[in-house]
Amino acid sequence: MILMKLIDITKENYVQVAMLTTNDDLKPTVLERYVTSNAFSMAQSKYSEKWITKAVENDGNIIGFAMYGPTELDGKTVFQLCRFMIDVRAQGKGFGKEALKLILDEMKELDGCDEVYLSIEPDNKRARHIYEDAGFVCLDREICGELLFKRTF
Ligand SMILES: CC(C)(COP(=O)(O)OP(=O)(O)OC[C@H]1O[C@@H](n2cnc3c(N)ncnc32)[C@H](O)[C@@H]1OP(=O)(O)O)[C@@H](O)C(=O)NCCC(=O)NCCS
Repeated sequence: MILMKLIDITKENYVQVAMLTTNDDLKPTVLERYVTSNAFSMAQSKYSEKWITKAVENDGNIIGFAMYGPTELDGKTVFQLCRFMIDVRAQGKGFGKEALKLILDEMKELDGCDEVYLSIEPDNKRARHIYEDAGFVCLDREICGELLFKRTF
């Protein structure tokens, strides 16, 4: 049984969150293959306070991370999910799909959030699969070399 939840990042757990990685050699780097490091994202959220950062916990262990918040698209404010990752040691076990449901449930409760945008590198087939499985639709539009997706609640 999967016992997952999203938890706040605190002074007690931020080091664990920073040490998560998608790199095969288990060493976090600032720019990983498909996602910027959690350490960078946590720093970014301190200086740009609109971003909400959450850790993904499974059975008491921190295994993932996500960041979300408002952003500008075509002159209007929309909600974006970004920096979603599951640590390489925990990938491929269903945690990403489950964590995505928890993140969307949380975003749905944000004031005025009736749709969520995200972007994916075109060759990131695994991420595309779980996002489409969760109801995201490709908008056939590229932003900074990434494909834009949207999900409506
Ligand atoms: C993308 C990510 C969050 C998914 O988390 P995960 O725990 O590995 O995913 P899950 O185990 O829950 O599900 C993986 C799904 O992808 C499928 N999958 C795996 N490799 C795939 C591939 N190459 N192409 C298509 N689907 C693939 C699996 O079959 C599974 O789907 P299913 O349950 O319908 O069979 C995680 O792999 C990750 O952190 N990747 C690196 C960072 C990243 O890409 N983040 C997203 C940035 S937009």
